[in-house]
Amino acid sequence: MTNEEIPNLTAFDEAALDKAFAALEKQARDAAAALNGAEAVEAFRLHWLGRKQGLLKDVSDRWLKSAPADAKKLLGVRFNALKAVVEGLLDQALGAGPSDAALAAEAIDVTLPGTRRLTGAEHPITKTQNEIIRVFAALGYSVGVGPEVETDYYNFESMNFPPGHPARDTQDTLVIANQDRRSQRDRLLLRTHTSPVQMRTMETQPPPVRIVIPGKVHRNEADDATHSSTFHQVEGLCVDTNITFSDLKGTLDHAMKALFGSSVKTRLFPSFFPFTEPSADVQISCIFCGGKGCRKCKQSGWIELLGCGMVDPAVFAFAAEKQAAYDPKKISGFAFGMGVERIAMMKYGISEIGQFYAGDMRFLEEFV
Ligand code: PHE
Repeated sequence: MTNEEIPNLTAFDEAALDKAFAALEKQARDAAAALNGAEAVEAFRLHWLGRKQGLLKDVSDRWLKSAPADAKKLLGVRFNALKAVVEGLLDQALGAGPSDAALAAEAIDVTLPGTRRLTGAEHPITKTQNEIIRVFAALGYSVGVGPEVETDYYNFESMNFPPGHPARDTQDTLVIANQDRRSQRDRLLLRTHTSPVQMRTMETQPPPVRIVIPGKVHRNEADDATHSSTFHQVEGLCVDTNITFSDLKGTLDHAMKALFGSSVKTRLFPSFFPFTEPSADVQISCIFCGGKGCRKCKQSGWIELLGCGMVDPAVFAFAAEKQAAYDPKKISGFAFGMGVERIAMMKYGISEIGQFYAGDMRFLEEFV
């Protein structure tokens, strides 16, 4: 495309070049002097310096390239000088700023109240999660994480839920579609619990292990006042030589007192999880009635809060495939898993789980 504003160059002696460039420079200066407003300045920039169709690009294409070899240097020097002038004019136009009249119109009234900026704060779930982590960090636990999209192997098989085993029905699962070509153990799903990170931890780290693992988990469940298909857990795993059931009891009793107050009592109830043996549900004395019995604890005085147990030897056997030190004859350990929403609801007296996810500032501001 040729630009009518750029004449063809016919002579290449210094006088002819000076004249041609002087004409362009005048054109640029006149245009710059007439600029008013940001839009005009931008149009000026595009017109002169535009990368594809700017005048200077055109000058470079048509004058420099067609020039005889011995005139190229003369042209180049003048071209660079012109470019510097145009860029200077643009800088000036950009720096000129608004007129005095415009400034007066928007003069600042220092007596007006300022703009209040909201300070961010931890979401109650994050806050509770961090409180739980802090309790265990003080006992020497480190913190780990694992993927939310997990394989069947880590979520189920290595946690001692064999393929087709009915225990899988206790955690109704959301699976990723179109994976028929993969072997069952490699099929992806949304993890139903944070327990798979027990295995991921043991595979990469020999004993002793003391770790807590916070994270989001998913189940194929209908939402109601106290259940959400997406929720959070904190997993715990402790493995060493001679870890006993009383270590588990003492650890969780301490943790519950740290979270809910030193007057809280704990008791363990027999339960079942494929990956722990024996397994237990931990109940705490009702924090609402102090154990006397009320509506919240269904008059029992106790509230069930988390699952736990001694790591099943079958789980250690899976870990030992990667880390021989997890020999169930030489080491032992316990694990526990708790729901963060449930703990947060108890601590803060929240009766609708959906409030955590609604993003309503009036709710969230209660926790700042
Ligand atoms: N993963 C179990 C659940 O989601 C909780 C649990 C973790 C139980 C560790 C025992 C040991 O229900």
